Amino acid sequence: MYSAKVLNHLENPRNVGQLADATVVGTATNPVCGDSLHLYLKLADGRIAAASFTVQGCPPSIAAGSALTEMITGLTMEAARKLTPEDVTHALAGLPRNKEHCSLLAIDALRSALAQLPKDML
Ligand code: FES
Repeated sequence: MYSAKVLNHLENPRNVGQLADATVVGTATNPVCGDSLHLYLKLADGRIAAASFTVQGCPPSIAAGSALTEMITGLTMEAARKLTPEDVTHALAGLPRNKEHCSLLAIDALRSALAQLPKDML
């Protein structure tokens, strides 16, 4: 069963869609379940000024993308780099054990985006 926070993100997902003026786009695909997530980041003044996502995947991957975009908006790149899948799962008040990798999908997309940035932006 999903937590109230997961259900809230499913009923009202935040920051869905492409960011037209994204600075960078991160992509992650889970090779086992096939779910994939794109994370769009707009950077300004050394911080993540805006974030959005698109996903083809299971309900928890939607919730994870939604929660992640809320978590990272306003963060420095250094702070964003330190986030873990457990942080996303925690923000969702937990996930069923067989769905914990959905948080990893969101974090992998974040890491993909950050890996594309030049070192002086990190
Ligand atoms: Fe694989 Fe959700 S079941 S990301």
